[in-house]
Amino acid sequence: MATEVETHAYDVIVIGAGGAGLRAAIAAHDAGAKTAVICKSLLGKAHTVMAEGGIAAAMGNLWPEDNWKVHFRDTMRGGKLLNHWRMAELHAKEAPERVWELEQWGALFDRTPEGLISQRDFGGHRYARLAHVGDRTGLEMIRTLQQRAVALGIDVFMECTVTALLKDGDRMAGAFGYWRETGRFVCFESPAVVLATGGIGKSWKVTSNSWEYTGDGHALAMKAGAGLVNMEFVQFHPTGMVWPPSVRGILVTESVRGDGGVLKNSDGERFMFNYIPEFFKAETADTIEEADRWYTDKKNNRRPPELLPRDEVARAINSEIKAGRGSPHGGVFLDIASRRSAEYIQKRLPSMYHQFKELAQVDITKDAMEIGPTCHYVMGGVEVDPDSGESKVTGLYAAGEVAGGMHGANRLGGNSLGDLLVFGKRAGEYAARYAANLAGSGPVVHADDLEAAATEALAPFSTEGGENPYSVHQELQTVMQNLVGIIRNEEELNTAIKEIDSLRRRIDHLSVEGHRQYNPGWNLAIDLKNMLLVSEAVAKAALERKESRGGHTRDDYPMTDYSYWGKRNLICELAENGEVRTREQPLPEPPPELAELLEEH
Ligand code: FUM
Repeated sequence: MATEVETHAYDVIVIGAGGAGLRAAIAAHDAGAKTAVICKSLLGKAHTVMAEGGIAAAMGNLWPEDNWKVHFRDTMRGGKLLNHWRMAELHAKEAPERVWELEQWGALFDRTPEGLISQRDFGGHRYARLAHVGDRTGLEMIRTLQQRAVALGIDVFMECTVTALLKDGDRMAGAFGYWRETGRFVCFESPAVVLATGGIGKSWKVTSNSWEYTGDGHALAMKAGAGLVNMEFVQFHPTGMVWPPSVRGILVTESVRGDGGVLKNSDGERFMFNYIPEFFKAETADTIEEADRWYTDKKNNRRPPELLPRDEVARAINSEIKAGRGSPHGGVFLDIASRRSAEYIQKRLPSMYHQFKELAQVDITKDAMEIGPTCHYVMGGVEVDPDSGESKVTGLYAAGEVAGGMHGANRLGGNSLGDLLVFGKRAGEYAARYAANLAGSGPVVHADDLEAAATEALAPFSTEGGENPYSVHQELQTVMQNLVGIIRNEEELNTAIKEIDSLRRRIDHLSVEGHRQYNPGWNLAIDLKNMLLVSEAVAKAALERKESRGGHTRDDYPMTDYSYWGKRNLICELAENGEVRTREQPLPEPPPELAELLEEH
C-alpha cells in the first residue's frame, strides 16, 4: 500500500482513557490479555473529572437501611423506567465493591466521624449515598485508575485519534488513527475493541464537555454496524457557570445543592417549590433546618426541592429564565452562602470555591453564584449486552457514557462514576475472554481498509477553497443549542434535521491548510463527521419519540406516554445511503421480583 502506517498488535484495545476506559484496560490486563489504551488527549484529561460530587453506591455508611434494591429503584425511577433493568441491577449490586476496590488501590475518600467512607446526598437518591472526595471525586478516581494502569505496565498511546474501526468480515479486527502531534497514521490490530470514548457534548454551544467529546465512539460504532439506543435523551445539568462568557457551561457540581444550596430567581424567590410534582410534595423540606432533620431523623423523609432529578431542575430553571425572572447574565442564582458557614463551604466544596473566585471573581461563601443549564451527558449510546458490554458487532464492546441503556431517559447524578467502574470492568473482562478464546483463528486487517481510512482522513487537504471547519462547527452548535435543546418540538426538530443534512453535505468540501503536524483545523475536520452523524441521530430520535420523558421534553407532546413510548426503545442505525435511520424496539421487561421493587414506596 502507498500510505505508511505504523502497526501495533494487541489482544484488547481500549479507546478512551476516562474512568470506563481505564477500568476496562485494568480488567482486560488482569484477565491475561495484552492490552493497550488509546486516548485522544493526554492521560488523565477525561470528562470523568466533571463528575465532581461522588460515586453513587449503596454502601449504607450513613444510612444502614440503604441497599442495592433501593438504589436500583431510584435509578429506574430517575431514568423514568426506560433503563435496561439488568444494567440498573448490576450497577446497584456491584457499585459498592468497585468503590472499596478503588480505595484499596489508593483513592482517598472523605470519612464519616466513625472513619467510614463519607456519603453525600444528591438528587433522586433516596439516601445520601455518594462516596466522595470533596468536590473532586472524578479527579481522584482518574488519578487512582491511572496510577494503577501505569503500575501494571499497560501500554498507553496518548494524543492519538481513532478515525475508523477495522473489520474482518463481521468481526472486529482493530482500529486506525493518527498521532495528533505528527499527523502520521497508526493501526492497532486487535480482535477485541472496547469503546470508552465518553460523550457528545461538543455539538452544543453551552456544555460542560471539553474539546474531546465529539461523539467519536458513537459514530465509530454506528459505522461499524452497531446500533445506538435512545439517543434523544441528552442531559442538561441544571448548574453550569454562565458568566463570564469564556467559562459559560463549566460545571457547578450538584454537591452545592446536595450540601444545602438553594436556587433563587431575580425576585429572590426560591422557585423550585413551584415545580414540585404532586407526589413529591409530602417528601419535600421547606427549610434547611427541615432538610437537616431529614438527614438525622430516619423516620422523616423530607428533601429539599432542589434535589429533584436533574431533568426536572433544569426545566424549572429554563422556565424561570424564559419568564424573565433570570439573573443579569441569563441564568438564575444558586445560593449556599446564606445557608452554610464559610468553613463548611470551603471544606466540602473547595473546587467550587476556587473556580468561582478565580474565574468569576465571586466569593461563594459570601455571594450567590449565577448558573444555568449546560449540556453534560448523553444517556443514549451503543446498544450493548448488559452483562458483557458487547455490541451487536462481534468483538466490539462499549462501556461508560458511550454505552446506552443503563440510565434510561435521565441519569441520576453520581450514577455515572459507578457505571464507569462496574461496566468498564465487565467490558474489559469479557473482551479479554473473547480474545483468548480465538486461539489462532483471529481476524486480519485488510490493506485496502487502511488505504481507504487514510484517504478519507486526508481528503480535507486536497479540497481547495472549500468550507472552513470552524464555521461549520459553530453552525452545528447553534442548531443543536437552539433547536435540539432542553425543550423541543416537531417544527424545530425538522428544521434541525434539514440544517444538519445541509451541514453534512458541506463537510464533504471542507478544506484545511498547512501540514498534518498538530493541525487543529484538520483535527476538527475529522471530528466534525462524527459530530454531524451523532447530531443527526439525536435529532431524528427526538423527532420520532412523541412524548416527554426525562432528558427529552417536547412542548407539542408534553405528557409521558406510559402505554406506548414507555414500552419502546428507539434504535439508530446507519443506512446504506449514509443516513441515520431509526426503528422502534420493545423495551426489555424486568422479571417480577425486580418489577415489584419499583412499586414500593
Ligand atoms: O454535579 C456533579 O458533580 C456531577 C456529577 C455527575 O454528573 O455524576
